[in-house]
Amino acid sequence: MQNITTNSKNLFYQWRRSQIPTKQPVKISKIDNLIIFLICIVISIISSYKLLLNAPLNFSDIFSWLLTFTEALISSGILILVSKKENPTITSRQIILLITLLLAVQASKLALASSISPLSMIIPPALIISQGMGSITALAWVSIASLCWPDPAIAINNNLFLILFVCASVVSLLGGRIRSRAQLLQLSIFVPIGSLLSQWILIGKDKISLVENQEFIFANGNMFSDTLLLAIVMLFTILFIPIFESIFGILTKARLLELADKEKPLIRRLSIEAPGTFEHTLLICGLAEEATRMIGGDIDLIKTGALYHDVGKLHAPNWFIENQDGSRNPHDEIDDPIKSAEVLQAHVDEGLKYARKNRLPKAIANFIPEHQGTLKMGYFFYKAKEKNLDIDENDFRYKGPVPQSKETAILMLADGCEAALRAMNINASDKQALETISKIIYSRQKDGQLQYSNLSQGEIFLIKRAFLNVWKRIRHRRIQYPTSKNNTFS
Ligand SMILES: [Fe+2]
Ligand SMILES: [Fe+2]
Repeated sequence: MQNITTNSKNLFYQWRRSQIPTKQPVKISKIDNLIIFLICIVISIISSYKLLLNAPLNFSDIFSWLLTFTEALISSGILILVSKKENPTITSRQIILLITLLLAVQASKLALASSISPLSMIIPPALIISQGMGSITALAWVSIASLCWPDPAIAINNNLFLILFVCASVVSLLGGRIRSRAQLLQLSIFVPIGSLLSQWILIGKDKISLVENQEFIFANGNMFSDTLLLAIVMLFTILFIPIFESIFGILTKARLLELADKEKPLIRRLSIEAPGTFEHTLLICGLAEEATRMIGGDIDLIKTGALYHDVGKLHAPNWFIENQDGSRNPHDEIDDPIKSAEVLQAHVDEGLKYARKNRLPKAIANFIPEHQGTLKMGYFFYKAKEKNLDIDENDFRYKGPVPQSKETAILMLADGCEAALRAMNINASDKQALETISKIIYSRQKDGQLQYSNLSQGEIFLIKRAFLNVWKRIRHRRIQYPTSKNNTFS
């Protein structure tokens, strides 16, 4: 009996460990919460008040108003929950943007529904949301914006509704994956053309009156003018996306790829002033990218984050081992473990300063403190202990915070494994390499560094395999090719 209890306890423990740990909820200040709640109330009022305008009011009118009001309020709440689920690090500013766009669409439906096609009202915001907050959030937004009509008197053609929903869903799905401004431009041309063709097929070509009507651009119910308007609004949206990026701190794929350009001044400086750190960074990019691909994370985010994670070392490159040529080590010269620990911590603090100066988005700047978490600077801690200094272990730990996302956690693990894998013997077996990787990752787990990262045990297993694969590639590169006797190469 006791065995069964112990086994079931063990099983339960293993099962719990294999589950994704609960993530700390996004910290939103009380004022922001209030603003978000008020916007949701306004959305609900706009979406339902017309039901109260029927005179005389009877019980069923009030009941249907209450139902619509609650429906809009719950829909807004669900939208916020979906966005938080998809983006665990979403900020209150971004949530405010998300629901303000919903509010704007509901208001414009009331004011403009009779003169502008719903396509032009719903598709452009869907593009902004998919670019900045992901496809799932955009799809949730599109569903609410398409289904929730504030004025029951506005009857949308069923076919138009279908076209609207399909086009907006395509924009939401593709928008989250688009990796350059050029692709965005293509989308803003092909989606309107697609909507025109489908309107032509499903609604009928009779309603298309072309250039003979001089007022075709704003003519009501004109498919051609609607399409043109949609294309124009989409182009303007693309033009304004960089402004949304800086005001609301949203991070699009195009921005990430721009930042990952190695010709950026800060990265160029790193390659010139701290070449060892730059090499270390490139190797980490490889490790982290492979691991992120394995677990289905955000590859562009981690590639860019990895590139900037150690920029703080620019403040004193030669204090870091990878930039020393072996002749002189400033840490030996000062012979003060406490000062040395301060220099190490400074690479995080200075890194954050560089991030602010270079206007790096928050999601990228987060990699700077989180890749070190609250790790112990073991070497200097034991050196201080050897010297019998009166020290506190916390003085030899980075200030944190520990990784708050899967991507920053992967970077921390890659950072820990990089030096060990680089130093491994070329003849070492895969098993030895995997053991080294597992040991380093286990020590981070045991130290509590991964507790808020959302990484499951299964994902950690995949990360280990990914690091091993990269190591095999590195080993392959280091194997020298045999050269012919007369040193000619083909
Ligand atoms: Fe670092
Ligand atoms: Fe590093």
